[in-house]
Amino acid sequence: MRKTIYFILLIALVFGLAACGGSSSGGGDDAAAAGDKLFHQAVIGTQAGCGTCHSVTPDEVIVGPSLAGIASRGDEAYIRESILDPEAKLVDGFPSGTMPQVWGDELSDEQLDQIVAYLLTLK
Ligand code: HEC
Repeated sequence: MRKTIYFILLIALVFGLAACGGSSSGGGDDAAAAGDKLFHQAVIGTQAGCGTCHSVTPDEVIVGPSLAGIASRGDEAYIRESILDPEAKLVDGFPSGTMPQVWGDELSDEQLDQIVAYLLTLK
């Protein structure tokens, strides 16, 4: 009898935890966290990931400019354009043709939104 009660309590606990986990709100924070992960992935699709060329430490240049503070330098539209059409506005001191012009194909719309959400947190 006692065992049955423990068993029922255990089931209730498991379902309770599952309910908590499932109810986390799918807001911007989740997207930014996913974008953070994606940005720092070594490879995205067939390409070297963003983090192989971009640091998020101020003034640290790898191949491209540091993206620290990017959300203070540009708005969402600028960030989106910089990813999809890197040649549109070149950052001073960096050559054209270095940032791959492939992200419109390599990233799904959702992945692009996630990376933009993440970069918008770098104020
Ligand atoms: C092979 C190196 C390389 C990779 C990979 C790369 N970038 Fe870049 N990126 C650059 C260079 C170089 C520039 C500066 C020249 C320019 O504006 O296109 C730049 C510019 C930018 C800018 C504008 C920065 C500013 O200060 O205005 C953003 C935003 C950006 N990249 C985001 C990304 C994201 C997001 C990814 C991954 C999806 C990525 N880059 C992948 C090299 C790279």
